Amino acid sequence: MDVQNQFPSFKDKVYFDSGASSLTPWPVLKKMEEFYTLYRANIHRGDHALTKKASHEYEEVYSKLARFFHADEGEFINVRNTTEAVNGVALGLDWKEGDEVIVSDFEHHSNLLPWLKLKEKGVRIRVMASDAQGLLAPDALSLLLSKRTKLVAFSACSNVLGASVPVRELAKSAKDNGSLVLLDAAQYVGHHPVDLRQWPVDYLAFSSHKCFGPTGTGVLYHRAGAPLEPWFLGGGTIRTASLDSYELIPTRERFEAGTPAIAEWIGLGAAIDFISKTGHEKIEAHDKELIVSMLGAFSNMPKVSLYGPREARQKSSALFAFNAGKLPPHQTAIMLDQLGFALRSGHHCAIPVTTKLGVAGTVRASLHLYNTVEQVQKFADVLGKLSQMG
Ligand code: ALA
Repeated sequence: MDVQNQFPSFKDKVYFDSGASSLTPWPVLKKMEEFYTLYRANIHRGDHALTKKASHEYEEVYSKLARFFHADEGEFINVRNTTEAVNGVALGLDWKEGDEVIVSDFEHHSNLLPWLKLKEKGVRIRVMASDAQGLLAPDALSLLLSKRTKLVAFSACSNVLGASVPVRELAKSAKDNGSLVLLDAAQYVGHHPVDLRQWPVDYLAFSSHKCFGPTGTGVLYHRAGAPLEPWFLGGGTIRTASLDSYELIPTRERFEAGTPAIAEWIGLGAAIDFISKTGHEKIEAHDKELIVSMLGAFSNMPKVSLYGPREARQKSSALFAFNAGKLPPHQTAIMLDQLGFALRSGHHCAIPVTTKLGVAGTVRASLHLYNTVEQVQKFADVLGKLSQMG
């Protein structure tokens, strides 16, 4: 079966909104149906066969993540999404007045607001400046690092500009400075392999729904030994409790209070299997083909302003922010929708990026494995005509 046929959704619509959420392939849907129809039960809360089977399937996902990211299974925490993962780290570290956090100027609000909130505790936020295309100069971080830098938090790929980020170099430079590193990999996982033996990051966050998995679940990778206290407590987190004290489980379960998104977590495991079976080489080659074809299309549309890199080697994923002539972004997206193309418009939860671009918002085309060069050609025809109207 070719890759496109593995996705059931939207046969009558060209879906160019994978930066917001990717489509879900059949194996993921089938795996969740299997849970709901064959062993629908809570996990780790009893001794009957259904709960044991559900618990086994649930635990298997940690092993899949460990193999996929080259890390240990105890280092993965089930959270709702990237946003919860980043907030968890902000809430789970011990902050002192005068501590500094460094972020880039292209962060999504989810990797910015939790750090800005720490200003209430006297934490200072410093910002790595990228160039007009969203690319970081080699010394962008080293110029800001100091003894006070407690943590460096940055995205592996901007959700607006799609520019490549030198993840390993930045992480290494932060670690050499003795700082902690958090990587927002929401727009990266699902497009590229991640080897956590090569990237010295302490925390990595991503959402299942952006890498072919279901909504409602995500991952916080927490490297063994890196500081982190649980930000929620409750069922499943303790060894023992009395009316005036409790003792937490020492392993990752202490971070997973309450009944988790079980079906979704198992679905994420199937998404990981789907990526592994498809192969990162194939996914990256397909992305590259889409990037080249989109950049070619934009270069032939003089009335369309494209933001971010214009060279394929500088793009991390097939994600393009643009405006068509003087048409407001939402109007462009509505017209494109009527013509059969689903794209996001607005500030994309990254207002500092659109402010820096000097626009109120942009339209964003974000493509993935199920998109084709033929779709790009059709899109170019339609957008070329629309841009003449603005
Ligand atoms: N963070 C997602 C986006 O960029 C929702 O669209």
